[in-house]
Amino acid sequence: MSVGLRLLGLCIFLLKNVKTDQIGFEFQPFPVLKNDNLLRAARGEVVDRVPVWVMRQAGRYLPEFQELRKLHDFFTVCRTPELACEVTMQPLRRFDLDASIIFSDILVIPQALGLTVEMHAGVGPVLPQPIVVPEDLKRLTPDGALSRLSYVGDAITMMRHKLEGRVPLIGFTGAPWTLMGYMIEGGGSKTMSKAKAWLNEHPEDSKLFLNLLTDAIVDYLEMQVKAGAQMLQVFESSAEHLSKEQFLEWGVPYLKRIRDELVDRLTKKAIPVVPMTLFAKGAGHSLKEQSELGYDVIGLDWTVDPLEARNLVGPNITLQGNLDPQDMYRDPEELRNLTTEMVHKFGKSRYIANLGHGITPQTPITSMEVLVEAVHKAL
Ligand code: CP3
Repeated sequence: MSVGLRLLGLCIFLLKNVKTDQIGFEFQPFPVLKNDNLLRAARGEVVDRVPVWVMRQAGRYLPEFQELRKLHDFFTVCRTPELACEVTMQPLRRFDLDASIIFSDILVIPQALGLTVEMHAGVGPVLPQPIVVPEDLKRLTPDGALSRLSYVGDAITMMRHKLEGRVPLIGFTGAPWTLMGYMIEGGGSKTMSKAKAWLNEHPEDSKLFLNLLTDAIVDYLEMQVKAGAQMLQVFESSAEHLSKEQFLEWGVPYLKRIRDELVDRLTKKAIPVVPMTLFAKGAGHSLKEQSELGYDVIGLDWTVDPLEARNLVGPNITLQGNLDPQDMYRDPEELRNLTTEMVHKFGKSRYIANLGHGITPQTPITSMEVLVEAVHKAL
């Protein structure tokens, strides 16, 4: 055989055998993934069992999380890779979950853009100097924002090693409209009325704002993939405050740009594209439109009927969700039945079981055990 042919053979062998899960930041090898049901479900491949994970699975319902939080401030945990990894690992020690999600918060982007974000007990996030008028956008510091988020990449890389390939690691970001909302309101809001007023009163500046956030998000997600994130979720949690028309105008174009630009950048750099989930809470009115944005997985809140959702998105999208977090407070028997019913409605193909929003702080630990077991036993 000629040298050329041998070289070609070697290249084909390498292409076939270097797996996605072994490519990380600086292309260092990671432990080989053992349970890839999450990624297979996202790609529409056959699974051994329906994968299940839970939004906010690392959180206050876990006593060990509460203990650690007594010692460390919320953002210190996010910023210290050892602590972020410890908290990310906590739910995996207790439950037979099929995914881990890196411990962080969507509000690390506003921080990296120069805003102060504090986490107040019993209140949630507080931004003491919010963006009030368009002039305030000048206070944002997009240059260098990505380097101020490098600790998230460090935590992801460390976590990939600590996981020893047990389950995939999900990275995440807030979506532009959701982040804009927090940055204008100065924290959470029942109505997002100040942020919605911006859309009406300052439409051009709103576009500037959303585009600035979109750019930061694409950089941030690319960094997470390079660091070792095996899947990504975009949280558009504040979609619930927008009408369908507003969501299509102020949410969708930026969500599309995130997906398109990320795929473009990764492809150009020959970095494997990872599956992406869009979770637009309260946007069940636009499932068809969501399914056309290029995301592999659409997350559903509990107001959406699984069968109707499947009809709207078609057969080539994976659905994720959508048990009401409140159902975690029911008797184990009732919870088991509801979970089984839900899994039967979604089916084993192209489905990732989850709640319809984050798990709440008073949830009994036993409910997580019941949920995970019921999902795995349902089909
Ligand atoms: O899912 C996970 O386990 C990963 C961790 C995670 C957190 N926040 C940790 C957290 C994720 C994915 C988030 C995303 C996030 N953060 C969203 C989108 C998801 C959603 O719930 O809609 C939003 C809107 C935020 C902003 C935020 N951070 C709020 C509104 C709050 C207060 C929530 C509350 O119930 O009080 C936080 C705080 C927060 N983020 C906590 C955790 C575990 C609890 C705070 C604490 O430990 O003191």
